[in-house]
Amino acid sequence: MQKTQIKQLAARITGTQIKPANDRVKAIVDRLLLDLFNVIDDFDVRPEEFWSALSYLTELGKSNEAALLAAGLGIEHYFDVRLDEKEREVGIDPGGTPRTIEGPLYVAGAPVSHGEARIDDGKGEGEILFMDGKVTDTSGTPIPGATVEVWHANTLGNYSFFDKSQSDFNLRHTIIADAQGRYKFRSVMPSGYACPPNGPTQQLLDLLGRHGRRPAHIHFMVSAPGYRQLTTQINIKGDAYIYDDFAFATRDELIPEVTRHTDAAELRDRGVNRPFASITFDFALPKAVKGVPVTLIDRPRAKVA
Ligand code: BEZ
Ligand code: FE
Repeated sequence: MQKTQIKQLAARITGTQIKPANDRVKAIVDRLLLDLFNVIDDFDVRPEEFWSALSYLTELGKSNEAALLAAGLGIEHYFDVRLDEKEREVGIDPGGTPRTIEGPLYVAGAPVSHGEARIDDGKGEGEILFMDGKVTDTSGTPIPGATVEVWHANTLGNYSFFDKSQSDFNLRHTIIADAQGRYKFRSVMPSGYACPPNGPTQQLLDLLGRHGRRPAHIHFMVSAPGYRQLTTQINIKGDAYIYDDFAFATRDELIPEVTRHTDAAELRDRGVNRPFASITFDFALPKAVKGVPVTLIDRPRAKVA
């Protein structure tokens, strides 16, 4: 079809307004419709392909995997790139810890501890991990009482709440930093997440010739009054997928050293009976600035009933 014909047809459909519309929604939907018509025309999409795509989207919703696919197609990362760019434009202090995607597996309402916590329920095997660090401003001054929310997968790459075989809030915690801005926790070393193998996200990834794997990682949301909220992750150095994350979340500044400890005296000091790993990672938060894009994204999140 001629592009002008497509434009006219789309305009006829989008022009059937009979009452006040939400202008922003209308402008975006109108544009999406025109772009879709063009895609159908450019690729000569067959009706059966279109109806199969619609039933795919229905399945995606029924499986609650829409946010998973958004991450896998790099859309969540794209919003990070855009926010980084906006912060540069408005002159936000660039000395903060880089952000990276939240992902779809955060659950609100995790237990709260002050200064330190053990965040695994003690039921899983796996390598013991001690992690610590401090929360500072961008000049290194500690932020006492900063809130550090942490969550990560178990040794099988699964997250509590979504994986009902784990106890509620296993490997999820909120730690309030001490007077020197320090936080620390004991946990178990996570494994990387993999998309459900029979789900619609993996189904599309297969058609794209892609895997649905993430490197092992630990998520954080770090906040303090007067500072920009930070959503980020650290990756576990040495993971085979570290630069091959299906969700595009790896950043060089977010790959701390992992130290392995086998010394008997160290084990005794830590109160453990087998070798353990440790990671130290500090978070730096830029000062909040009025009128610039917020960093805490308002999105639907899981909550334990
Ligand atoms: C995750 O954080 O594990 C995750 C992020 C994006 C998509 C799927 C999982
Ligand atoms: Fe994750």
